[in-house]
Amino acid sequence: MSHQVAALFKTISSGVYVVGAAHGQQRNAFTASWVMQASFNPLMLSLSINPGNTSYRLIKAARAFAVSVLAREQMDLARHFGTQSGREHDKLAGQAWRAGITGAPILSEALSYFDCRLCFTRRAGDHVLVVGRVIDGAIFRSEAAPMTYASTGDLDGSGALYPSKF
Ligand SMILES: Cc1cc2nc3c(=O)[nH]c(=O)nc-3n(C[C@H](O)[C@H](O)[C@H](O)COP(=O)(O)O)c2cc1C
Repeated sequence: MSHQVAALFKTISSGVYVVGAAHGQQRNAFTASWVMQASFNPLMLSLSINPGNTSYRLIKAARAFAVSVLAREQMDLARHFGTQSGREHDKLAGQAWRAGITGAPILSEALSYFDCRLCFTRRAGDHVLVVGRVIDGAIFRSEAAPMTYASTGDLDGSGALYPSKF
């Protein structure tokens, strides 16, 4: 049943993103799939973050974050930023990135990006909803197709986290 619940939630279409934040000399980024548009006016995005992630503390401190959209063939980036914590080492070292207006790191090889100022956070079960206002963004590679979360299989190990019943 746990397997069925996990498969059920995989039918929700979502992309794969690298969310970056920087505060003072600290910077970090992590892979996220729970990202969506939250408003037209003003333009807003929401994320859902495990508060244990190193990036969560940085986003709260910086009151800003950037979302880099991964293209279909960038599974190595999804793995790099999504299967290890930035607590031990600098995941951005050796990667091509630039700072956005907010100072948050943006992957230079991403399909596109959104630079956001934090508006508010709200606890949602074992995650925290983070809602930000989009103040900048651009498409870097208009010919590229976005990566889908379903195509990542169980890269995030979430299969084991679903309850066995509703
Ligand atoms: C494909 C994929 C999607 C993920 N989506 C999310 C997400 O939406 N929210 C989240 O908090 N963690 C998500 N993760 C897990 C984090 O990327 C992972 O825990 C990461 O190591 C956190 O890094 P940090 O501690 O350096 O911030 C995802 C991982 C993968 C591989």
